[in-house]
Amino acid sequence: MFENLPAKVKIVEVGPRDGLQNEAQQVATADKVALIKAMADAGLANIEVTSFVSPKWIPQLADASEVARCLSELKLDSVKTSCLVPNLKGYERFKESKIDELALFMSATESHSKKNINKSIDEAISALKEVSVVAKADGYRIRCYLSVVFECPYEGKVPSKQVLQVTEKLVTIGVDEVSLGDTIGAATPVDVYKMVNDISKYVDKDRLALHFHDTRGTALANVIAGLSAGVTIFDASLGGLGGCPYAPGAAGNVATEDLVYMLKGMGIETGVDLEKLVDAGALAQKLLDKQLPSKYLRAALATREKAAGKQESCV
Ligand code: HMG
Ligand code: MG
Repeated sequence: MFENLPAKVKIVEVGPRDGLQNEAQQVATADKVALIKAMADAGLANIEVTSFVSPKWIPQLADASEVARCLSELKLDSVKTSCLVPNLKGYERFKESKIDELALFMSATESHSKKNINKSIDEAISALKEVSVVAKADGYRIRCYLSVVFECPYEGKVPSKQVLQVTEKLVTIGVDEVSLGDTIGAATPVDVYKMVNDISKYVDKDRLALHFHDTRGTALANVIAGLSAGVTIFDASLGGLGGCPYAPGAAGNVATEDLVYMLKGMGIETGVDLEKLVDAGALAQKLLDKQLPSKYLRAALATREKAAGKQESCV
């Protein structure tokens, strides 16, 4: 099982988008930018920084253009920034933003599609095709999330045939990379292994990403299944922040700290400095004024506190 592991993987940090879109409180633009800077300092090289969706639907990210403007002033040269784009209007905002890459998104079920973007699957494909045509002409590479590929909060288990049909359409409209979303965190490792093998008939494994929410505690096990099946791109969220506001009960993504710790222990390179990542996680907890779900973050901060306490008692 562990014979063919990759030497390195790409982590796409989605905390500033997937995480903050789901927070009840509004985070100030300057704080979002500081958090993204801390992520970059930790070595995260691919960061989804915001979303050009309707501010009426996701008010938490209404400051997307302002976040992008501040980031372009910061010139984070080591980072490829990306953002969500749902339609041509979002694409216009993206193009003005100087963000490096765009990510489309849609769902594998009609019910989640309606709730999330107010469109049927066919309508969603048409809207994404309009964007992909101009984005390709402008020279962009296109990532697309496919949500609820294992289980849908409205329709239950999703037949893999349905997922394959939508994936085929995404490839037809020119999507270069597909990120398979376990939006409500219901998959278990064998589901993941089988799904990757089925989907790889349409999308090469090096153009497949996995996006695990950790609602039921299976996200890291699912990463192992994805690695074994040959996937080398994983989405993760600092501290385990996140969720989809239109998927009730969905917890955050696999925590970046937990993922980096596990991969490091397995000898797989991520380019991320764990100590600096913990600094970023601590900043996120401070800004949001709450403890985040990442287990590694909790353990590392407890160790730091203990070390600081020992030092104090020696003085
Ligand atoms: P709609 O209301 O059906 O759209 O929303 P519309 O085209 O009829 O437009 C309505 C109004 O929105 C108009 O303004 C438009 O101009 C405006 P008005 O005339 O009423 O003043 N509008 C926009 N404004 C700014 N930027 C835009 C934009 N588009 C329209 N891009 C729409 C359709 C798709 C816009 C809406 O449903 C939407 O924004 N949905 C986004 C929902 C969302 O962001 N969900 C979370 C992200 S997906 C996710 O988390 C899953 C993922 O993590 C993977 C996984 O976990 O599975 C990616
Ligand atoms: Mg998500």
